[in-house]
Amino acid sequence: KYWKVDQGIGTEIGIELAEAAQLLRSGETVAFPTETVYGLGADATNTAAVEGIFTAKGRPSDNPLIVHIANVEQLSSLILSDRVSADHRQLMEVFWPGPLTIVLPVKTGGISPLVTAGLKTVGVRIPDHPVALQLLREAGLPIAAPSANSSGRPSPTLASHVRDDLDGRIGGIVDGGATGVGVESTVIELVGGELYILRPGGVTAEQLQSALPAIRIHEPERGEVQGAETPRAPGMKYTHYAPKGFMHIVQGEDAEAVAEWIQHDIDAAKTRGESTGILTFEERASRYHADLVIACGLLSQPETIAQDLYAALRQFDQEGIQYIAAEGCPETGIGLAIMNRLRKAAGHRLVRV
Ligand code: TXA
Ligand code: MG
Repeated sequence: KYWKVDQGIGTEIGIELAEAAQLLRSGETVAFPTETVYGLGADATNTAAVEGIFTAKGRPSDNPLIVHIANVEQLSSLILSDRVSADHRQLMEVFWPGPLTIVLPVKTGGISPLVTAGLKTVGVRIPDHPVALQLLREAGLPIAAPSANSSGRPSPTLASHVRDDLDGRIGGIVDGGATGVGVESTVIELVGGELYILRPGGVTAEQLQSALPAIRIHEPERGEVQGAETPRAPGMKYTHYAPKGFMHIVQGEDAEAVAEWIQHDIDAAKTRGESTGILTFEERASRYHADLVIACGLLSQPETIAQDLYAALRQFDQEGIQYIAAEGCPETGIGLAIMNRLRKAAGHRLVRV
């Protein structure tokens, strides 16, 4: 089933979302828009329904799913409420609804153990999107929803991305147009009074720090393969979002030097007979020549880079590009999430110029 809905929907529930909610209640999978990326939803309390998510995505069963709720009242059916601290409450107040997933101790007998992949914790968030919120309210259930891509591919920011990956494998798609943030939610856990960013995302480290000024924040490791000798060996352990072609990131203080290095690198690939691509930013795209040059947002407005990133990564595959050089961006604000995804897409190959 496919439903097109308006993002500006009022409070009245339309026939489309009523049908989609009914499908979710009956144990089917339904893709829907959130403010970050499209999610593939299923009833989190129904093991067979949750199984449908893993099967459709080809997702490894040891990777837990995020549970989406419509309001904080729904929390008590999922988690151990007495383990929710004042700091947790502060985060919920400041960032929900919004792109922050909070990992909390799970209550037994609430959601299916498949959702948590056997962990004692569950990641929960309230999405900030009118369509997602209405669907969640109408379904009246906690909805487990990973990003609605096939496992390993870039997350979908358009309903057409969901179709490209999952058509015929899921119960339905609610098309609410382009998502907003473009990268997934920030996943955090509070341990021993300190905050660990497990995955950087739509809420920045700086925003978390200003919401909890007294708390120490740990950013995730930035594992990388260094040097210009970038190994081309496939199957590096931690690739995700990766285009089918070879990709590496080039980063440096001197924009001129970076541009020169990239153009030489791309010219060499061209000489070897490979089709070439460059991932850069609008301010810088005119410097480059390659089979496909993608201007991915504005360096001066990094939120626009996040919005365009996954569609750009998908485009290299659509055009069959074999060799890609990507410009890095500063790792502050939303740049931390952008570079985290780019590093994964590039198999952690990063050249410093
Ligand atoms: O923005 C988002 O978060 C999107 C939209 C659809 O809400 N969802 C999403 O889900 O990105 P997914 O499944 O693609 O990513 C969930 C991430 C994974 O990295 C997973 O390992 C982590 O959250 N995660 C989930 N539950 C966890 C837990 N209990 N402990 C640690 N990490 C957890
Ligand atoms: Mg995902």
